[in-house]
Amino acid sequence: WVRMVTAQTPTNIAVIKYWGKRDETLILPVNDSISVTLDPAHLCTTTTVAVSPSFDQDRMWLNGKEISLSGGRYQNCLREIRAQACDVEDEEKGIKIAKKDWEKLHVHVASYNNFPTAAGLASSAAGFACLVFALAKLMNAKEDNSELSAIARQGSGSACRSLFGGFVKWIMGKAEDGSDSLAVQLVDEKHWDELVIIIAVVSSRQKETSSTTGMRDTVETSLLLQHRAKEVVPKRIKQMEEAIKNRDFGSFAQLTCADSNQFHAVCLDTCPPIFYMNDTSHRIISCVEKWNRSEETPQVAYTFDAGPNAVLIAHNRKAATQLLQKLLFYFPPSSDADLNSYVIGDKSI
Ligand code: DP6
Repeated sequence: WVRMVTAQTPTNIAVIKYWGKRDETLILPVNDSISVTLDPAHLCTTTTVAVSPSFDQDRMWLNGKEISLSGGRYQNCLREIRAQACDVEDEEKGIKIAKKDWEKLHVHVASYNNFPTAAGLASSAAGFACLVFALAKLMNAKEDNSELSAIARQGSGSACRSLFGGFVKWIMGKAEDGSDSLAVQLVDEKHWDELVIIIAVVSSRQKETSSTTGMRDTVETSLLLQHRAKEVVPKRIKQMEEAIKNRDFGSFAQLTCADSNQFHAVCLDTCPPIFYMNDTSHRIISCVEKWNRSEETPQVAYTFDAGPNAVLIAHNRKAATQLLQKLLFYFPPSSDADLNSYVIGDKSI
């Protein structure tokens, strides 16, 4: 027999960034972060997990190509979920798995991204969240989504925030074992559904410095990170929660842009400095800043992760349409700016 489960998980975009770990193995961050989860129709991972007594080892395929599961992060997630596995009884298929059997059984995992893995569009976040969620269903683990987020976190920090839709907060926690470092939903996807997210793909090349090594260098060398984690982010988290609760787009945009800029300043403050944005990214920032200043209240927020692609959050559909017109005017498809595609997604689960 074979027992199979398929799950789909969208990616998330941080509006208050996670950057820097206090524990690299458990993946514990130096500050809280807040993100928005995208609509699964646009950027998501679909993962099928299967178990059968005929499987003689754990195996995984990503976009059809077999990848190694020997990395510590996969092993940690698999071990943690196995520890939570329960009895499974599927009368229809005549499958009965006792809790103690899970230690001996092997799983096969097939995962697909509906967006280019190399595009620097937070593929690990959706990937690990989906893997953990699918395995939890396969093994009948009783954990709620926050408890599962603490397992997904051990695959990739940002993955813990993809277990929920809407706006999500990753609480950094205090415990040394990481048990209180988990994600909670702030508001669901219906709370602020007029927002429209546009991703301007500036470059689909793989990033030069991975988040993991970049963060390590930052923690070791940047004084600005200390200031950010202790003084700036705690205040911003409170203000951001308030802005989201009140659907206050002016404050939301100001905080989102400021936090993205400080994250990139921290990267510059790292030795050797890390450059994630390029000239096109900078031009997009100038364009949005200029437009926002010409209006009574900001219309668009921008945020950039560990790469040059712009995530633009428009106040509503009208602002999104105007934004696209401006982007197409300033960056026509034939220009050498390499800004050739847009991914448009509504914010929702
Ligand atoms: C810039 O979650 O990819 O996107 O925990 O080492 O896997 P690891 O890092 P990762 O870092 C994401 C960093 C970020 C900001 C964010 O998503 O909060």
